[in-house]
Amino acid sequence: MKPALFQNDEAGREAFAALASRAVEWIVNYYRHIDEFPVRSQVAPGDIYNQFDDQPPTQPVSDDEVFRVLNEVIIPGITHWQHPDFYAFFPGNTSFPSIAAEMITAAIAAQCMIWESSPAAAELEQRCMEWCRDLLGLPNAWQGVIQDTASTATLSALLTAREWKSDFKISTEGFDGTTYRIYSSAQAHSSIEKAVRLAGFGTDNLVAIPVDQNLSIIPARLEEAIKDDLKNGFVPTCVISTIGTTGTGAIDPVKEISEIASRYGLWHHVDAAYAGTALMLDELDYLRNGLEGTDSFVFNPHKWMFVQFDCTAYYVRDPKLLIRTMSISPSYLATVHGDKVRDYRDWGIPLGRRFRALKLWMTLQLLGTDAIKERIRHHISLAQKIEQWILEDNLLEIAYPRSLNIVTFRLKKENDPDGRLTKLLVSEINDSGKAYMTHAVVEGRSLVRWVTGQTYVEEKHVIATWDLIQTILHKII
Ligand SMILES: Cc1ncc(COP(=O)(O)O)c(C=O)c1O
Repeated sequence: MKPALFQNDEAGREAFAALASRAVEWIVNYYRHIDEFPVRSQVAPGDIYNQFDDQPPTQPVSDDEVFRVLNEVIIPGITHWQHPDFYAFFPGNTSFPSIAAEMITAAIAAQCMIWESSPAAAELEQRCMEWCRDLLGLPNAWQGVIQDTASTATLSALLTAREWKSDFKISTEGFDGTTYRIYSSAQAHSSIEKAVRLAGFGTDNLVAIPVDQNLSIIPARLEEAIKDDLKNGFVPTCVISTIGTTGTGAIDPVKEISEIASRYGLWHHVDAAYAGTALMLDELDYLRNGLEGTDSFVFNPHKWMFVQFDCTAYYVRDPKLLIRTMSISPSYLATVHGDKVRDYRDWGIPLGRRFRALKLWMTLQLLGTDAIKERIRHHISLAQKIEQWILEDNLLEIAYPRSLNIVTFRLKKENDPDGRLTKLLVSEINDSGKAYMTHAVVEGRSLVRWVTGQTYVEEKHVIATWDLIQTILHKII
């Protein structure tokens, strides 16, 4: 006999309603108690794996059993990204409208690869990309597409740059021995090196441009590197600027880099995966400086805009170049509507696509942009407070200037010459379960990254975490 949950009849729908209500009740309870969980999972490798049988059940188990395993086995192995004391990496935020939208998306379960496979998905995506473009103050001729991650968007940018620079020959004839060169700073995210590798340029051809004391690219050094490469017969192809590097939030001088890129005929891609959301704030309009001269831009609503992973917004100045790179059959043959519609499969790598625009739209609808901007400002103001505490502290120092809501700090050199105690501080914070931060090594020295970007973080949380840091410091020194 088929399980009721496998049938779309009254019995099946009733069974689903019971299951779904229980799931919603579970979600509500999870958020009720979210700050009681250890932020970073405290399990050891293999702890979770070993609790699962090596075969799936041949017959359905009860809902009770599923929820028991969820609570007792799975949840202890979860790191709670929605815990207000999550200060690690960059946040991966969600919000209640986004969660509700994902439930509906899952129910509709549409594949949104071409317009006619779900016209609403394509048209809402187009509209939401325009909304976000205007919200961030990006150039109004740019067109956007939702992709799964910034890594995929950056790979798309490098593939497009490669085709544009080779006059679309590499995609048909392959590489002809020409050495194409790509430039970024050593502070750029690892997704850039990965994209360089996957696009076939070879990571030896990723040139690390020196940075200044703020870890921002020095434009004159970029120009020197390009000139050297030209002398050696290489083909300078693409430069990647970052607005908000992962380590310290450094911001590259996009305008100066754009001028160099256009002088030497390079593609200019901007990785604003995390910090892009801050472009919504008019008081930070310097972040938009020079964007009009760039070719492509990525930011992740799934990091700091309260839209659930996965939701990356990728913008291009000239969609024709992207489509020519990605389209496997000319898009005008794909549907009877031709150029009147967008077939987003031609705007990225995968054919199959989730209906991601729904969660972006529902989040913007049900939160409104004012509240979103207010939260971003609140996050930045928390980081300003933390920065002040560290500046006044006897044992700690700021490692690099605060950027937005990213504070980097460490023990002063006299107490911690080799960075061992800074590293220990991070592991003690994380092992306590009370807060979660990231340790990084930048320019050979250890630092702690404290990013106040979680949706629900309030001043009381950062005060308690500061007290925790003080207690640990007195223990380890
Ligand atoms: C600056 C930067 N670029 C790219 C990425 C990669 O993002 P994704 O996980 O969406 O590929 C990150 C991730 O934190 C990042 O900080």
